[in-house]
Parts: sequence; C-alpha cells; structure tokens
Amino acid sequence: MTTVRKAIIPVAGLGTRVLPASKAIPKEMLPVVDKPVIQHVVEEAVAAGIKDIILVTRSGKSAIEDHFDTHYELEAELSRKNKTALLEAITNIVPDDVTIQSVRQSHALGLGHAVQCAASMINNEPFAVILPDVLVNNFSQTKNDLACMISAFEASNAAQIMVETVPEDKVSLYGIADCKQITPEAGKSTPVVRFVEKPAAEEAPSDLAVVGRYILPARIMDLLATTEPGAGNEIQLTDAMDALIKEATMEAYRMQGKTYDCGNKTGFLQANLAYGLQHPETAAELTTFIEQLNK
Ligand code: G1P
Repeated sequence: MTTVRKAIIPVAGLGTRVLPASKAIPKEMLPVVDKPVIQHVVEEAVAAGIKDIILVTRSGKSAIEDHFDTHYELEAELSRKNKTALLEAITNIVPDDVTIQSVRQSHALGLGHAVQCAASMINNEPFAVILPDVLVNNFSQTKNDLACMISAFEASNAAQIMVETVPEDKVSLYGIADCKQITPEAGKSTPVVRFVEKPAAEEAPSDLAVVGRYILPARIMDLLATTEPGAGNEIQLTDAMDALIKEATMEAYRMQGKTYDCGNKTGFLQANLAYGLQHPETAAELTTFIEQLNK
C-alpha cells in the first residue's frame, strides 16, 4: 500500500483579490481568528498524516517561511516572562516529525507550473496539493476530508480530486469534473472521465467544482512538464490531470466539510466568523455580538 507523506502548497500568488490588505504581507499571512490562513492549512495537512510540506513561494513572501521557523528573541522573552501558553503557541506549530521546505517559482506561469517547480522534491512518491486560499473544515468531523482522500487513494490507487457542487453561475471560476452525470455522496469517490478548467456555464460538463485538494501520482509531474498553456494562458494543473485520465483512473472525492475561500473578501469574513464561533476564547462574546447585530 502506497501512502501519501508529501504535500505541495503553492503560495506564490500575488493576492490581488484581497488588496489592499495583501499589499505588503502575503495573503496567506492574513489571520483567521488567531492564526494565519497558511497555519490552518498546514494543520489540516498534518492532521491528515502529511510529514513533508513543500511551499512553492516567490520573492516578497518570506514571512510565510519565517512563521514556521524559530524566533529566538521572542522565545527567550516569552520564556523569561513565564508566558508558557504563548511560548507553546509559537514553538510547536508543527510536530517535530514534520518538515517544511520551500522552493521558488520565479515566473507566475500558472498553478500547473507552480506544482511542477516542486518536482525534484517529490522523489517519485504520490503527493497532495493543497491550495491555501481555501480553508476546508467540518468542525464535527474527527477525520478530515484530506485524510479521507488519502485513505481512498490507499485503497484504490486512484488519484483523488476533491469536488463540491457549485451553482451554475460559478462553474466558470473552477476546474470542473465530468463524472458522467454521477454526483458521488459526500465522503465517497467516483471515476472522472474529463476535467475542464473554467468552462463557460453552457459548456460545463457538471456542477462538480475542483476545490483545491488533490492526491496525485508522481507521474503528473512528467505530464506537467509538457503541458501547454491553457485557460488564462497559464499552465493549468487541470489540463495535466485531464491528460492523466488517459493513462490512469482518477476519482472525484465529494467533500463532507465546508469551504471558506479566504482569497476573496466575503469568504475571508465568513471564515473568521465560523472559526471565531468555534474558538474557546472568542465563541461566547462573538455569539452575543452577532445576536445584537441581528436585533
Ligand atoms: C485554481 C484551479 C481550479 C480550481 C480552483 C479552486 O484556480 O486552477 O481548477 O477549481 O483553483 O480554488 P484559481 O482559483 O487559482 O484561478
């Protein structure tokens, strides 16, 4: 049984949808309650059993790498003041057996190109791709969707692509999976016959949108190396996935949780509300505040 130990997280985007907030800091560093978005995403990966995280980054985004690195001065100060809870929060962001490395994408040539930038670190193993704009959560679920996708991959050896149903007027914003009119139940997978990146609504083969969690075989790296620019004149991961279908079974995994797209203003606010209503330090006061707003 092949398991999945590696995850690629592309963080080289410019964050134009959340300007001006992301002008001087990476959009992945904007906080959802008390942690930057990227930390929530890394925690999701770690909870699913990922051990090696590869960030695909660019100039001007080193705050992301710094966040997961040691901050000696701060640690010494918190330790001297006996602020143990805060010290714990900044030192143990990932467990000791998890590594975070980074590689640069020097030109913004698309998501497929970003993933391919990490090819030399994949070592011929299957891997996850996690798009950090989207937080995926089901607060009551003990095993997260990414972990369920890894289990499905281990059982079938078929690539797993997380999908959710979206309204017709939103299909042109996503990669869309053609599953021959089948919509899998939440938590289940079904074979995909075609992927198409950002189709016009009238040309979309379904309403099953790819939402930013992928379990892929190493072979996709070879296909990405020869993928021509597609939608938006960018090298699209979706196009390489569509090429992979001709060689191997790929499955759409229908998510059980909910997505929060922190790459746009409304999704970011929704994430802060949803996560804030779950956080022990903020839940009670936030609930009261929302009740008052509704009066
Ligand atoms: C990317 C992918 C697309 C996917 C989407 C999910 O698009 O290319 O297939 O559906 O992420 O958020 P982007 O939103 O980066 O344009």
